[in-house]
Amino acid sequence: MKVLVTGGLGFIGSHTVVELQNVGYDVVIIDDLSNSSIKVLEGITSITGKSPEFEKLDLKEKQDVKTFFNKHKDIVGVIHFAASKAVGESVEKPLMYYENNLNTLIYMLKEVVNLDVSNFIFSSSCTVYGQADELPILESAPVKEAESPYGNTKQIGEEIIRDVAKVEPKLKAISLRYFNPVGAHESAKIGELPLGVPQNLVPFITQTAAGLRKELSVFGDDYPTPDGTCIRDYIHVVDLAKAHVVALQRLIEARNETNYEVFNIGTGKGSSVLEVIKAFEKASGEKLNFKIAPRRMGDVVQAFADTSKSNRELGWKAELTMEDAMRSAWLWQTTLD
Ligand code: WQD
Repeated sequence: MKVLVTGGLGFIGSHTVVELQNVGYDVVIIDDLSNSSIKVLEGITSITGKSPEFEKLDLKEKQDVKTFFNKHKDIVGVIHFAASKAVGESVEKPLMYYENNLNTLIYMLKEVVNLDVSNFIFSSSCTVYGQADELPILESAPVKEAESPYGNTKQIGEEIIRDVAKVEPKLKAISLRYFNPVGAHESAKIGELPLGVPQNLVPFITQTAAGLRKELSVFGDDYPTPDGTCIRDYIHVVDLAKAHVVALQRLIEARNETNYEVFNIGTGKGSSVLEVIKAFEKASGEKLNFKIAPRRMGDVVQAFADTSKSNRELGWKAELTMEDAMRSAWLWQTTLD
């Protein structure tokens, strides 16, 4: 059975391709290589021994999307990762984000609903919750005004899928709301490849430990949390990848309860920035150079998932630990030239 993974050479996409191949799916990847490297294809193949089909396509080109689906009518599922995802950049370039993240989704959905089998998994984010009023965060928590155009594209994306599902009974769709993906495949053959200065915490930590950055700035230690730093739900990217496989299998086996569902994908545990630093130092044996810096605009104080719905309905639970994530992130960093 063939599955399409858009953005399949990206951080989460590549790890998901590996897990799909591991359970026997054939995979075709679409990626525009705007924020990924073709070398990731070799990494995937070296892990699984199977080379995914690959097409370099810009999903903003409506005709190219049509042509692709005319060639691949035997697809049994689509996992749609392809999107721009830098929160700060989205504030500076909103139109680029709305065009790249929403036009592409619309063109994809137009074709997916015409497939014989219309199973669609959407890459969403806990950012849709903003600062949730209650913790841990349930899927039923209110979606709040997005802190950034990036976050807004995830909210609008979910609404588009929901509205299409209402009038396309054949479409079976799931949005997975990721918390904070971290770590790398244990083989260190694929991992996170941030372009330029990393915006996210863990790649900045590993680049600092590798001597590529002078020191980590901890954005604020005066928050109302036990150690004053922000709390997040850091989930190992391999656990996150496996969640996509079980979500797709739920749709293929028609175990979904309605034709549009939403699931939180996290560990259910919150960790502060200082706790992540400590876990990294323990796992890597490296002393991390960091300083306390002013708060970062837009940061929420705490976000961690209530994963009971995913555990119950998907039969999925995060298994890897923060230490597994830090160890694999460091091993991956040490392989990068
Ligand atoms: C985590 C914590 C920072 C960098 C974002 C997106 C979310 C998802 C994950 C795409 C915060 C602190 C960070 C640094 C720091 N992305 N930090 N120094 O902001 O929770 O989520 O990335 O889907 O949608 O919103 O992740 O890793 O940027 O920050 O102190 O150099 O680390 O303040 O408390 P975030 P993050």
